Amino acid sequence: MKIVRGRRDTGSERDTLRLNPNVLMKDIMSLTNKDKIILHLCADTGSDSLPYREAGYDVRCIGKEIGVENFHPPENVYGIIANPPCTMFSIARTRAKTPRDLREGMKLVTECLRIIWEARFKNKLAFWVIENPRGYLRQFLGKPAMTFMHCHFGDEGGKPTDLWGYFNFPRKLFPCAKPARGKFNTESAWYNKFRSPEKRSLASPKFAQAFFEVNR
Ligand SMILES: C[S@@+](CC[C@H](N)C(=O)[O-])C[C@H]1O[C@@H](n2cnc3c(N)ncnc32)[C@H](O)[C@@H]1O
Repeated sequence: MKIVRGRRDTGSERDTLRLNPNVLMKDIMSLTNKDKIILHLCADTGSDSLPYREAGYDVRCIGKEIGVENFHPPENVYGIIANPPCTMFSIARTRAKTPRDLREGMKLVTECLRIIWEARFKNKLAFWVIENPRGYLRQFLGKPAMTFMHCHFGDEGGKPTDLWGYFNFPRKLFPCAKPARGKFNTESAWYNKFRSPEKRSLASPKFAQAFFEVNR
């Protein structure tokens, strides 16, 4: 007999959970934060999942060192945030030394999707999201579920960002017609300890918090 989420796990209990999605939701709701596994894919700094870490969730960042291509999700993943590199999908890639290679770019996106599906085959996920600045990835994943700019949530700077997935939409707080010019700017001390180019791939702290509030 296994212990799952601090309870004894019997075969018949698992069958009940599998057959009745309402029971499964109740089960998920009764978890404490430290029992909730968040996978943060393509994350060396973990800025997008910071609010989860601060709230005591079991956040696991899978960055370059582990490699998403080598990773398989454990049982009982709660939610997944994926930030595959945007270098091959960026509209701004006009002066790069090497030509745009969409097949290369899609390799890590495909690995992120594989991990999401593997986790979902094991159990229901509360949410999953794939994030990328607006660009060529739309031509592979289709229209995004949501596009936002950092200013919609009260941070300065940033660029239009697409989100695909299964998640509750954070409510945009401010109207902003176009992103502010210049460097991304925030008062967050955690954020400000990073320098470029790392800083460029960090999440807007206010967006990350807003996403967390409606997907906790
Ligand atoms: C667009 S950035 C996202 C960073 C993210 N917002 C964060 O706060 O950690 C893409 C990240 O993917 C990482 N990366 C590159 N190759 C990877 C691989 N094979 N597996 C996992 N992560 C990888 C990069 O080092 C980088 O941190």
